[in-house]
Amino acid sequence: MKISDKILAFFDGHKRDLPWRNNPTPYKTLVSEIMLQQTRVDTVIPYFNRFMKELPTISSLAKADDELLYKLWQGLGYYNRAKNLKKAAIIIMEKHGGIIPNTISELESLPGIGPYTAGAIGAIAFQINTVAIDGNVLRVFSRYFGITDDIRLESTKNVIKSRLEGIYPANRLNDFTEALMEIGAIVCLPNGKPLCDTCPLSNACFAYSNKMIDVIPLKSKLVHRRKELKTVLFIKKEDRVLILKRPRTGILSNLWELPNIEGHLSKEEVLLWLSQNGLPASRVLSGINFVHIFTHIEWNMKSYVVQIDQIPFHMENDFIEITEIEKKYSVPTAFLPFFNQFK
Ligand code: ADE
Repeated sequence: MKISDKILAFFDGHKRDLPWRNNPTPYKTLVSEIMLQQTRVDTVIPYFNRFMKELPTISSLAKADDELLYKLWQGLGYYNRAKNLKKAAIIIMEKHGGIIPNTISELESLPGIGPYTAGAIGAIAFQINTVAIDGNVLRVFSRYFGITDDIRLESTKNVIKSRLEGIYPANRLNDFTEALMEIGAIVCLPNGKPLCDTCPLSNACFAYSNKMIDVIPLKSKLVHRRKELKTVLFIKKEDRVLILKRPRTGILSNLWELPNIEGHLSKEEVLLWLSQNGLPASRVLSGINFVHIFTHIEWNMKSYVVQIDQIPFHMENDFIEITEIEKKYSVPTAFLPFFNQFK
């Protein structure tokens, strides 16, 4: 038996009785797929049923009172989904004559519909031959094909996607798409031990036959980065700019930097800071914004270019010719974009 036939036979025998699967329509598919973004099937079921009772058609959704819409969504979270769903319904009424569009590009152009959801709706409602790949499908098929690269990487997703394309059937693309989700949800479980004994894929599954279920999928840990806001000042007098030496300890110790202050300051706050630090300025202009990522810290930097009237006497040696800086001073990469804007 071909692998796609096994998957479809499993779906016929084991699929869950879910409300959007009874007398499916593109509208039911649209609403259910939006609700199922970031939310579990069991949670979605009662919300979906209530929603269909109150707003049974795309035109009723397009005209829905916002209060009713939010009431129907209350508790599901991620309210932008509800707002976008209504916006999509209005666009469908106005631009598509009330008919949900049946191409991936038109679906993707609707608010709240990204590549995965467009693929899922396209395949389930319109039998479009497209691979809708989510976390569940990645888990099942990284195991099945024995793909040991990090599944967070786009390149790994593309490999799995193209291998999957090779096993897609010629028809029943709607059932096949839901069957893949079903195996991910009820057999190749997201948490806990997968139920390989009941899996239609197990006898050809790489991870199962090589005892690598615990190893695949490989998922890199997300590093936690502390976010810091900074205001960076490029304080100039003609061709010279103020640089300071960083402290002897801590991150980027002993290197040279532009003066910077915690937080994102307004122009008025910068002017105040300058006068408090003995640097009266005539002009403060907004400069570039830049994000620099270290392993454990992220600097989100806003900058200003400050023209000062006169270099204070005691700072005479701290203002350096901009062209000299690159040659003689070690300035960390994080600050280089602020210099580059003057090249
Ligand atoms: N998750 C996302 N779409 C789904 C669907 N149609 N059925 C079950 N789970 C899903």
